[in-house]
Amino acid sequence: MIKSKELRIAVTGANGFVGKNTRNLLHKKGVMLFGISRKNFLNYKYESKIISPDFNINYISSKLKNCDALIHLIGTGRQTIASTYESVNVELTQKVLQLCKKTKIKKIVYISGLGVSNNSVSSYFISKYKAENEIINSGLDYTILRASYIIGKNDPLTKNLNGQIKSGKIIIPGSGKYHLQPIFVNDVAKVIYNSVTSKKFSNKIIELVGPETVTFKEFVNLFKGKTKLKIENMDLEYAYYNALHNQASRYGVDDLNIMIGNFVGNHNKLKKLCDFKFKKIREIL
Ligand SMILES: NC(=O)c1ccc[n+]([C@@H]2O[C@H](COP(=O)([O-])OP(=O)(O)OC[C@H]3O[C@@H](n4cnc5c(N)ncnc54)[C@H](OP(=O)(O)O)[C@@H]3O)[C@@H](O)[C@H]2O)c1
Repeated sequence: MIKSKELRIAVTGANGFVGKNTRNLLHKKGVMLFGISRKNFLNYKYESKIISPDFNINYISSKLKNCDALIHLIGTGRQTIASTYESVNVELTQKVLQLCKKTKIKKIVYISGLGVSNNSVSSYFISKYKAENEIINSGLDYTILRASYIIGKNDPLTKNLNGQIKSGKIIIPGSGKYHLQPIFVNDVAKVIYNSVTSKKFSNKIIELVGPETVTFKEFVNLFKGKTKLKIENMDLEYAYYNALHNQASRYGVDDLNIMIGNFVGNHNKLKKLCDFKFKKIREIL
């Protein structure tokens, strides 16, 4: 096992939600960081900041020096004409793999989605599946983490629900009886760190799920706590209509697909690989 202080790790999607939290943990562990982002961001003292709006491999590779691993956190869960699942989730993964080859990085960690499989039918899951396959076939040592909802300060679900709270009510698409298995972002950062440092994570696909399974309705109730707030069920047909016709809808098409998909995973498998205690939902919210 390489010591933290000798580790050199590159992070793509450095300025995203998981990127910020992971870099924070790696920084505390004394890892030499190389943050890669499209836009300027606040870097740590011992972190090289690499800004490339178009993921220019030649430029980025000139800045990466002897990295042991790359943590690939670029991804999108909503597509637009300018930013499709194929271009972001698949093609940028291909570019990241080219970068690893060029800079002789031997290990990659990637966050995919819980429920992704060779039977996937939704565009989002298909793009994640294709990205997974690119990684598996690359010849690099990989750890693919198939994540349920990653929660913490400012995660997309929390931001969404907080936005709804400000507007006076929370909308639950359909019955709200479908399940999720949230995992705390700091625990995710620890899993990512272990994926780089422990051989147990080598060439594996692992479900990144928290210790508790809840329905969306239960989650919303835990989230709102004692706040007196209206919770409204929205007809699913209307929720999909809204998602398809309004880019600013609270729940996008693939948000709904993931929710209704009712995906849960095996937390015990993850727990056996890790030597720390995972936070429960009430401890996070
Ligand atoms: N959060 C969750 O609950 C969850 C669940 C399952 C899977 N995941 C996956 O985990 C990874 C990290 O998620 P996150 O929550 O940290 O998401 P996030 O906050 O949206 O960050 C994703 C990052 O991807 C980069 N990105 C997005 N579109 C891009 C584009 N067109 N070109 C280049 N870069 C682009 C951005 O990096 P810069 O702005 O730094 O350039 C962005 O910060 C993603 O692959 C996501 O699909 C997350």
